[in-house]
Amino acid sequence: MALNLGDVVPDFEADTTEGRISFHKWLGDSWGVLFSHPKNFTPVCTTELGAAAKLKPEFDKRNVKLLGLSVDALANHDKWVGDIKDATGATLNFPLIADHDKVVANLYGMIHPNASDTTTVRSVFVIGPDKKLKLSLTYPASTGRNFDEILRVIDSLQLTAKFSVATPADWKNGDEVIIVPSVSDEAAKEKFPAGWNAVKPYLRYVAQPTAGKPS
Ligand code: BEZ
Repeated sequence: MALNLGDVVPDFEADTTEGRISFHKWLGDSWGVLFSHPKNFTPVCTTELGAAAKLKPEFDKRNVKLLGLSVDALANHDKWVGDIKDATGATLNFPLIADHDKVVANLYGMIHPNASDTTTVRSVFVIGPDKKLKLSLTYPASTGRNFDEILRVIDSLQLTAKFSVATPADWKNGDEVIIVPSVSDEAAKEKFPAGWNAVKPYLRYVAQPTAGKPS
């Protein structure tokens, strides 16, 4: 089943390197990133898990829980964790689902049979505190993901959730943002009293709103 943006994501129970979890309960009020790995003991996946572990403090700051998945048995995961530490210097500091029966992979459409019918592609699902899908990405097995980019899109999603703004191409945290089209100029005067720069009537740049001041 294809998951669309705005859908409530499927709930499941699964064994992980940090014990059995019930997904929605485990998420609680946090945001979540669920991401799949084609297979244990493969080179790209090893680098990705090390990179994600190193950035975990940044995900924590944003109230985001990381959850990896690989279609292997738990005993294999435990062995792989040692390799990840050797290869990248990072200790796995978030749970990794042991989806040996592919229940979660199938629930989330992580297996693309024309790519491989035995391993997952590199899926990323960003889930909001309302358990709805905010963003999904699909990479082939041969391309490692950029976890700084995942943090960047979470910054954008969280700004949009809190303020009536969108983010332009190549936006980075701290850059100017865009007032969403659904906010009239009249309403924008109240929300953004310091004003904005209208490059076009529909393209209104404004300084990035700061935390604690919802508009
Ligand atoms: C990897 O993780 O390195 C990988 C897995 C499957 C195909 C190609 C690369």
